[in-house]
Amino acid sequence: MSFFWGDPTPYVEKAHKAGIKVCDQVGSVSAAKRAQQSGADFIIAQGVEAGGHMAGTVSTMVLVPRVVDTVAPTPVVAAGGIADGRGLAAALALGADAAVLGTRLLATTESNAHEIYKRK
Ligand SMILES: Cc1cc2nc3c(=O)[nH]c(=O)nc-3n(C[C@H](O)[C@H](O)[C@H](O)COP(=O)(O)O)c2cc1C
Repeated sequence: MSFFWGDPTPYVEKAHKAGIKVCDQVGSVSAAKRAQQSGADFIIAQGVEAGGHMAGTVSTMVLVPRVVDTVAPTPVVAAGGIADGRGLAAALALGADAAVLGTRLLATTESNAHEIYKRK
């Protein structure tokens, strides 16, 4: 169960009791601390390069190592502007355990996004 833009604390225990893993997507170190305190199983550190809604104002490359250092040993997933293997390698080098790719998959033939959106 993935949370974003808000405090997941009231829902984490219920999700865990139902056998569901929880992640919280955050855009700042302070929100990452809150996510860890909530009991989230892993945290997505979303940089300002990300498509869709954003929670923070810091770039992925700056945010990810700060979140990693703050919440260790909670696993961290990097998000924002990662679109290929090089980006994944960079995220791992920054200490992330994985990466989220959103916009890159939106631009695939399998995606139902509008053609003009895909071309842009
Ligand atoms: C069209 C679009 C819609 C999105 N909607 C959501 C959403 O509803 N909830 C959410 O947590 N993240 C949403 N995201 C953000 C992704 O979870 C992720 O942070 C982002 O796609 C990563 O950056 P990237 O787009 O540069 O790969 C959305 C992203 C895109 C591109």
